[in-house]
Amino acid sequence: MSVLTAAPAQTVCAPLPVLGGDVTVPLVTGGEVAYAALDYAASAPALQRVWDDVAAYAPYYGSVHRGAGYLSQLSTDLFENARKAVAAFLGCRDGDQVVFTRSTTDSLNLLARALPADCQVFVFETEHHASLLPWQDGKVTYLDAPRSPRQAVETLERALADRDPHGPALVCVTGASNVTGELWPVRELAAAAHTHGARIVLDAAQLAPHHPVDVRDLDVDWVAFSGHKLYAPFGCGVLAGRADWLREAGPYLLGGGASRRVTRRADGGVDVEWHESAARHEAGSPNVIGAYAIASACKALTEAGWDDLVARERHLVRTVREGLAGVPEVRILSLFGDDAPRVGVISFVVEGWNSSHFAAALSAEYGIGVRDGLFCAHPLVRTLLGGDPQTQGECGAPEAAAGEKSLNAIRVSFGAGTPDEHVRRFVDAVRELVRDGAKWRYRTEGGRCVPAV
Ligand SMILES: Cc1ncc(COP(=O)(O)O)c(C=O)c1O
Repeated sequence: MSVLTAAPAQTVCAPLPVLGGDVTVPLVTGGEVAYAALDYAASAPALQRVWDDVAAYAPYYGSVHRGAGYLSQLSTDLFENARKAVAAFLGCRDGDQVVFTRSTTDSLNLLARALPADCQVFVFETEHHASLLPWQDGKVTYLDAPRSPRQAVETLERALADRDPHGPALVCVTGASNVTGELWPVRELAAAAHTHGARIVLDAAQLAPHHPVDVRDLDVDWVAFSGHKLYAPFGCGVLAGRADWLREAGPYLLGGGASRRVTRRADGGVDVEWHESAARHEAGSPNVIGAYAIASACKALTEAGWDDLVARERHLVRTVREGLAGVPEVRILSLFGDDAPRVGVISFVVEGWNSSHFAAALSAEYGIGVRDGLFCAHPLVRTLLGGDPQTQGECGAPEAAAGEKSLNAIRVSFGAGTPDEHVRRFVDAVRELVRDGAKWRYRTEGGRCVPAV
C-alpha cells in the first residue's frame, strides 16, 4: 500500500514515542521553544523503545563471536538473533544473507566490491550519491531522469535490451527518493531487470522507515538500509539478499572474524580460508548494539502496524502539501507529479529566497530543524531546479549569499515519531516568513547562512 493511495484511515494513530520530544532550543529573537525535528530523512530520532532495549542490554554488553564468558555468549546470541529479526522484517528468502554494515553507503559499496567480473550496472541519475557512485570502477550506465514511474520502467527496459545478454548485470534503484519522497516502481523495475537476466538492489534508506519492504514480494535481489534513518542511531546498517555473489567475492575487509583459518606457508606467506557466511564481510568486532537496535526498531515498527503508520504519515504529508499549496511563492519539487505516491519527504524552493537563508530562519526564529542544499543527489536536484551544474556548491554547503536567488532547495521530512503539531507549526512558519520576511539578519559563514549575532 502506498502512502497517498492508501484507503482513508478511520482513525489516525498517535506518533510513536521518540527521544528528544521535550528538548527546547533558544530562538535568536528571545526565549525558548520545543524543537521540531523535521529532518528525519537525514537522521531520525531514536525510538524510545529502541533506547530502552539498548539500555536494558548495555550492562550485559560483551564481545561477539570471540569470548568464552557468559556475556560474550549472550551478546553473540543477541547479534545472531538480530540478523534473524532483520531477515523476518524484510521477508528474506531461505538462503539469503543479512550482512551488518555501517550504513546504506557501506552496504552498496560492499555490493559494488562483490560484483562478478564484467558486471554491467544500470543506475538512474536521480539516485542519492550512495547509490550513484559506488559502481564507478566498473561498467556503469547512467540512465536519464524519468518523468513518470512508467517512463522509468521503459527507460530501464530499453537500456537492458541493448546490453550484452550473456554477462552479469545489476540494476540499482531507490525505493523512495530522498529529495521528492516519491515512490519508485520497484516491483516493475525488478520484473524488467529479471526479464533481461539482470539482478536488482533496492536502496531502501528512505523507504524502510516509512513503508513495509518485502524482498520476496518486490522480488528484489538485495536491499540496503541504514539504522540511523530507522530510529536506531547506533552506527549500523544492513545489506540483505542473495548469498552467491557475496560468497564468491573476496571479503570486504580483511581481518579477524571474516577468516576461518589462517596458516603460514612454507614460502613464508599466509593462506587464509574465509568464511562463506555473512561473517565473510563483517571483519572486526561486530557492532552488536547497532545490530540489536535495528532489530528492536524492526520489531517496534512491525508491532505498531504498518497500516496505521502509513495512514498517519499520509495524513502528515497531506497537511504539509496542502499548507504549502496555499503559499504561491513555494514550489514543491517533483519528478512524477502531484498524484505520485510519496513518503514524508518534501523538498521545495521559495521564490526570492536563498534556501539556506530560509532554513536558517526556520531554525533560528521558529526552532524548526529542516535541511537545505542538494541533499547528496546533485544531478536530481539540479534537474528539478533547472540549475547550472557549474554554479552549485558542494553537498550541504551552498555558496550563494543570504538573500540571493536560490540555487539549492529546502527539505522537510518526518515520520513515525512526528506529532501533528510539528508539521502545523512548520506550515505556519513558512507562511509567516514568506509574508513578513525574516525578523533577524543573517550572514554567510563557511558557505552556510547563520544568524548575524
Ligand atoms: C536514498 C538514500 N540512499 C542512501 C543514503 C545514504 O545513507 P547513509 O548516509 O546512512 O549511508 C541516503 C542518505 O540520506 C539516502 O537518502
